[in-house]
Amino acid sequence: MSTDQPLHWSSNGVRIRTDSQCQSDAYLRPILPPRKLRPDEIKTTLQLLAQNGVQRVFTSAIRSREQSFFRDIGFELHEELLLLSHDLSAQIPAPTRPTRRAQRSDRPHILDIDASTFSQFWQFDAISLTEAIKATPRSRVRVNTGPSPQGFAITGRSGRQGFLQRLAVHPTHQGSGLGRALVTDALRWLQKRRVYEVLVNTQIENVTALELYESTGFVQRNDGLAVLRWDAKR
Ligand SMILES: CC(C)(COP(=O)(O)OP(=O)(O)OC[C@H]1O[C@@H](n2cnc3c(N)ncnc32)[C@H](O)[C@@H]1OP(=O)(O)O)[C@@H](O)C(=O)NCCC(=O)NCCS
Repeated sequence: MSTDQPLHWSSNGVRIRTDSQCQSDAYLRPILPPRKLRPDEIKTTLQLLAQNGVQRVFTSAIRSREQSFFRDIGFELHEELLLLSHDLSAQIPAPTRPTRRAQRSDRPHILDIDASTFSQFWQFDAISLTEAIKATPRSRVRVNTGPSPQGFAITGRSGRQGFLQRLAVHPTHQGSGLGRALVTDALRWLQKRRVYEVLVNTQIENVTALELYESTGFVQRNDGLAVLRWDAKR
């Protein structure tokens, strides 16, 4: 792992990514349900990471059943997240600002916006951006119209379940209605496709996002998400 490039690979039902800036950190995302994961295999993967200098492994935001699996093999709570859902039962107002489909050439701008809005821990690199877009069978990536993107939203759909995967507006353009327009565009796209529920998660202290989601009809759920952490030295 003596490389400046982040490494991504899948093994034993989990996807691993090393941090490009801090090589002692790695991120783990389950790609199989917990009943299909083998504790011994995941532990072997963790030991291999530790032998290669990784000190801390963080899970993606996972639900309670997955949390139990990872706690049983030595992971601990790193951060709790809020999970919100929207039942799309009411009519969604039309976006007040126009948006367009993002092109591949918009991706560097999208990564810049992402880096300017999320802390390093949550930031996408090019590979994780592609993974987020491909995480569901159908997805929609929108940006504002105009010469260069100032904000973007990634929305996913799997059957009749929707996910607001990512939303960000560059700090210099926040507060002018783009975030709300991107959310309403996403909700209308999902409603047209007869999705019955949309999920989104956010950090507990992200008051701006929470207010935006609640004012567009999302409600907080009791079953939150969490990021867990495994420490090699414990
Ligand atoms: C959340 C975010 C996308 C909102 O984008 P935005 O373009 O600034 O949002 P809008 O201008 O459309 O405002 C929408 C609502 O957000 C809330 N909001 C916006 N700015 C706010 C602020 N400074 N303080 C509190 N609430 C605020 C308000 O409820 C606002 O409603 P209003 O239009 O009735 O005032 C943007 O702040 C952002 O990129 N944040 C960092 C990344 C992030 O948190 N992403 C989502 C969580 S995963």
